[in-house]
Amino acid sequence: MAPPGILTGDGSATLFHREVGEHYHSLSGAHLEARYRFIEPCRVARTALVRGQVRILDIGFGLGTNLGWAIHDIQRKAPGAAIEIVSLERDLLDEEQLKPFFRALPEARLSVMLHHLVDQRRWIEPGLRLTLMVGEAEQLIDTVEGRFDAVFLDPFSPKRNPGPWRAGFLRAIRNRMVEGGILSTYSSARRIRLSLLRSGWQIGLGPAVGMKSSGTVASAGLVQPPLPPLDEKLQRKLARQVNSGQEEDQR
Ligand SMILES: C[S@@+](CC[C@H](N)C(=O)[O-])C[C@H]1O[C@@H](n2cnc3c(N)ncnc32)[C@H](O)[C@@H]1O
Repeated sequence: MAPPGILTGDGSATLFHREVGEHYHSLSGAHLEARYRFIEPCRVARTALVRGQVRILDIGFGLGTNLGWAIHDIQRKAPGAAIEIVSLERDLLDEEQLKPFFRALPEARLSVMLHHLVDQRRWIEPGLRLTLMVGEAEQLIDTVEGRFDAVFLDPFSPKRNPGPWRAGFLRAIRNRMVEGGILSTYSSARRIRLSLLRSGWQIGLGPAVGMKSSGTVASAGLVQPPLPPLDEKLQRKLARQVNSGQEEDQR
């Protein structure tokens, strides 16, 4: 049977959001993006292994791809660690629409879990606690409890979906991070990097995934090993703009 939605470069599928005019994932590969854009750079399996637990904030649940792969990856690499993930989603799709995407996740049990999560907004089993909050992330963030080790910042683009990229929201997430917590996003826009810096994050170069340019990683305080650095010239330019309060180039 042909995969649902739109086929991406790694053989997994995504959807196109008509009103926003964008796909839910990179056309280079939906699953590839989840693993190498979000899960790996946020070092979630490493945190789980070292601390025996990890808490993730998943901004833009979408088709559940980042969430499903995160559970799979952490449980495989850090068996027995306690995982807690809070997902925020403005426009939750219905279960029929989500079904084929949940089924395409690497384990059948993930599909069962995610269906239950969409239905009940919670999944709890020993070592795994999932919460799905439906609404605008910018408002929900005030009701989210506890601190996070990692954030998958994955709304649509800043141009089409500006709310979750605003400095106030980036600061609100920053305030909910543990020291050394990491955020990853696909945006490499200079104004988003400036907003992150102005919101108290340290920033670095996110991985390039498929045909897409490098994204951005950000940390709450210092991390070991350090974040991959941005180009020195760019770092100096950003630092000057942050210090002068100068408005950023639009890119
Ligand atoms: C690029 S898709 C995310 C794909 C998703 N991370 C996945 O793994 O399948 C963006 C998602 O962010 C959601 N979104 C956009 N703005 C939002 C907001 N202000 N609050 C919460 N969710 C938002 C959209 O509805 C959409 O589902």
